[in-house]
Amino acid sequence: MAAEAEARLPKAAFDYYAGGSGTEWTLAENERAFRRWVFRRRVLVDVSEVDTAVTVLGQRLPFPVLLAPVALQRMAHAEGELATARAAAEAGTTMILSTLSSTTIEDVAATGVDRWFQLYVHRDRGLTGELIDRAVASGYRALVLTVDTPQLGRRDRDERNGFLPPPGVDLAILTSTTGGLSQQTGAGGGSSLFAYFARQCDPSVTWADVEWVRSRAQLPVVLKGVTTAEDARRAADAGVAAVSVSNHGGRQLDGDPATIDALPEVADEVGDRLDVLVDGGVRRGTDVLCALALGAKAVLIGRPQLWGLACGGQAGVGRVLDLLRMDFTLAMRLAGVTSTAAIGRSLVRRAVP
Ligand code: GLV
Repeated sequence: MAAEAEARLPKAAFDYYAGGSGTEWTLAENERAFRRWVFRRRVLVDVSEVDTAVTVLGQRLPFPVLLAPVALQRMAHAEGELATARAAAEAGTTMILSTLSSTTIEDVAATGVDRWFQLYVHRDRGLTGELIDRAVASGYRALVLTVDTPQLGRRDRDERNGFLPPPGVDLAILTSTTGGLSQQTGAGGGSSLFAYFARQCDPSVTWADVEWVRSRAQLPVVLKGVTTAEDARRAADAGVAAVSVSNHGGRQLDGDPATIDALPEVADEVGDRLDVLVDGGVRRGTDVLCALALGAKAVLIGRPQLWGLACGGQAGVGRVLDLLRMDFTLAMRLAGVTSTAAIGRSLVRRAVP
């Protein structure tokens, strides 16, 4: 699907979605690392009935896949985030709407999808507070605070392409207050998003702000971008409801470990205190199974939803979710597990190098 999406999308849009920071080592490592884990499957288990459901933030999901926050989806398809939201609703899963969405908070809410809102803290705290209030007023069930992005990673593809969304596509939630991306082009070209971030987003955010977000929202807070036991413990002490082990799809610190390799230390540290999620490199049902075995409650997918969106709008995203669900169910059967609750560390081991 990635190849078909590449053929359909303008180069700058595809590169923005597909690319990573620096040498793109972490980007590649996220997928590669899954191949370094193998299963310890069990045999002669009655797998005629397999229960793929999980509970995340107290809500039952039919299978453990949520849609990660992805910016500017109207570059991939004219219906953008609305198509994604409708597909998520049909599949019964949760969509996380990006602060950098090309559709408003309210329009996505109107689809009725189960929804969380991803937050970038802007230098203008009045504006940031308003974003939180709008999400709360529009029925978003959780706030996902991205904590790996004090500044945007340097993505060479976007710099070379002078990344700027096509006319008519911009940061729908922010254009009226910040001017959006179209205001960011300077004489030097480069990525408009890199420039936007440097100008608008706040690199001074600390743990104190987590408390500010939590008290302003009165909603469960998910920290996205934790990769160490130390930060996971701090997150649990700060009262967040969940963490997502994430390196931002290899788009931030190049040299970050693959998230599947960082997951065990986080899950070991706080898995009994909060919900641990993971995102990065999940492409197959077997990847989902591996993530659950290493301590995740569920996974988030980013690029796969975009490729589905680019290839077929709502139906394309729906197809990606269906395929993952079928593939995960098959993986559970072949591994000899009948419920997600029974998936544990003994199901995997490191592959012999
Ligand atoms: C935005 O969050 C991006 O990774 O481009």
